[in-house]
Order: sequence, then structure tokens, then C-alpha cells
Amino acid sequence: MKKILLITGPAGDAQGWGDLSVTQEIAAAIKGSGKDAEIAFVSTMDEFFTAIETKKFDLAWSALYHISGKSETIGMGNGDEKWLADIFDDRKIPYIGPNAATMKALIHKTATHEIMDAHGVPVPYHYQIEQGAPLPEIAFPAFVKPSFESRSVGINDNSVVENRQALEKQVAFIHKEFDQPALVEEYLPGQEYTVLMLGNGRLQEFLPGKVEVDASLFGKYPILRADLRGVGATKITPTSTTTNEAIKVTRKAMEALNCLDHVRADMRLDAKGQLKIIEVNGIPGLKPVKSWSPQMFTLHHPSAGGPMEDYRQLVDHIVTSALTRYNLI
Ligand SMILES: Nc1ncnc2c1ncn2[C@@H]1O[C@H](COP(=O)(O)OP(=O)(O)OP(=O)(O)O)[C@@H](O)[C@H]1O
Ligand SMILES: [Mg+2]
Repeated sequence: MKKILLITGPAGDAQGWGDLSVTQEIAAAIKGSGKDAEIAFVSTMDEFFTAIETKKFDLAWSALYHISGKSETIGMGNGDEKWLADIFDDRKIPYIGPNAATMKALIHKTATHEIMDAHGVPVPYHYQIEQGAPLPEIAFPAFVKPSFESRSVGINDNSVVENRQALEKQVAFIHKEFDQPALVEEYLPGQEYTVLMLGNGRLQEFLPGKVEVDASLFGKYPILRADLRGVGATKITPTSTTTNEAIKVTRKAMEALNCLDHVRADMRLDAKGQLKIIEVNGIPGLKPVKSWSPQMFTLHHPSAGGPMEDYRQLVDHIVTSALTRYNLI
């Protein structure tokens, strides 16, 4: 029986698919699919090394990009410290998800934009602003956010800036609060969508969804503020007219970024109605059944058993497609 080692830690919610209870749900789903699973909860690199050296497993699956000692934010890690996928790559350990180079590009929103742009994927205009650097001349309104975060951390109605003074203020806020460069990009005022890439090659699927929020929850702007994330405020509904375009840009982005197994692209319509990809998530949320991946799976593959059975099937699809690409099946 194939065994999956699920790796998580104090930052599992900030960096990855959710907290320890979510990891337990994933383990239950794997066991419910006739495979074995064990959880390694690691707080330090030493604990991580001990786990991979002492436990027996066929495939690793990590909720963590790196171990930084921070549990509420992601960032780019501690200087030269390796990321978990670096270690898996070095030791030739089979694992779920893209390789270390891609993981690093996905956390770094400017790097993601640049790779996509070079491959003809539509992205907003963007400037990464280091602490103390001069501000560029830009077209307003613009959007200001941290460069290396997730869960809408650092995003509220002040993220949309209409003039230079507001821009200066919000860039200074990001520098002070998150100690990382600010990302200033084109504000995309239109509808938000998300597309899940599931599996590889013959087993690959693209599942698109429209991100709906009760309009009364929005403040000045229709954006997903931090307080609207992880609380069940967003609902995934069918995409209708944008389906083909959303799949087309996502397929291009996933190929450009060398994505594998289970990766999600978030996008919005610009002021002219053109879809632009905002970011690509290398470890999408897997909270049953609130996260977008399970919601999208249920939207496209509803089973008679209901959403928790769909969740089991989603997890099994991810595990099986990774085992298949390593010829472990
Ligand atoms: N350029 C933009 N224009 C308009 N809204 C934006 C823009 N960038 C981000 N947003 C809003 O902020 C939200 C969070 O942004 P983004 O997806 O970049 O960050 P994240 O924190 O990495 O999210 P996730 O939890 O999906 O990883 C988006 O879902 C969207 O509603
Ligand atoms: Mg996002």
C-alpha cells in the first residue's frame, strides 16, 4: 500500500492548505481511498530532516514552502536556508507539487508576473518597490500589496490607491508591516475568477470558477480583503462566457511556470473586460469544503455522496496523478 507523508507545521495555514485539522482531513481522505498517510508536524529544519529520514513513505506532500519561524506570514524564507522542495529535489524524494524553482517563483509575485508576461500570458502592469526606492510614474487607480504573501494578508480597501499620496502611504504601510517589497500593479476592477489545474498529462483537468461574494460584504471596492478570506464568505459558481478564455490563459500560465499536480490561478477582468492573471498558488487551500479547490471540484464533479465524498475524490486525484508521474502506480 502506498504511503503519503503529509508535512505541515505552525505555518501550515499561512503558507499552505490550512491548519493541522485540515491536514488530518487530507490524511483521512487518503486512507479512505485505500492508501496510507502519516502526518509530520515540524517546527524546525532539524525536525523536518528527522521526519524524512526516519519515516517510511512513498510520496511527500508539504503544506510548507519553507520553515522560517514565522507562522502568520510567508516571505521568501531565511536567506540561504533551503526550501522543502529543494531538499526533496536534492534527495530525489518523490513529492506532490511543482519543483523548488517553481515554488520560489510562485511565492514571488513579481517573478510570477515576469515569467507569465514573457510567455504571452496577460498580467497587470507591475512594479516591485523596495524599501527606500523611488516610486514610479503610474496610471491610477493602482493596487498595492505585499510581494510574498497569501490569504489576502495586507489587503484592505486602502490597497486600491487613486492618487500619488495614497500610493506613498500604502507602500510605506507594506514596508513597515511586512518588511518586504511592495507590489504596485494595475487595479483590475472587474469580476474575479479562479481556475484549478488538477493532475498532469492524460490525467490533467482545468476546473474554472467564478468567485462570488455577497455584495453587501464589500466596502468601497469589490476586492477580497483579508477579513473576507477563510470565513466561508466566497462562493464558487459556474463561469459561463469566460470559461474558454479562463482555461486558455491558465493552461499557458501553468506551462510557462512548469506547474504540477494541484495549482490554482487567480484572475480578474481589467477595465476593458480582458482577463488578467493576478497570481498562481503552488499550495492551494484544501479546507473541506470551504476552500476554492474543493468547491470547484464539487462544481464540476458532484457525486451522489455529497461534498465530503467529492473531497475524498479530489485528494485522491491529486495523489494518484503525482504517483503516476513518478511511475509509482
Ligand atoms: N491587481 C488587482 N486588482 C484588483 N484586485 C486585486 C488585485 N490584486 C489582488 N486583488 C484582490 O486581492 C485578493 C488577494 O490578492 P492575491 O490573490 O494576489 O493575494 P493572495 O493573498 O496571495 O491570495 P491567495 O490567498 O489566493 O493566495 C484577490 O483575490 C483580489 O480580490
Ligand atoms: Mg489569490
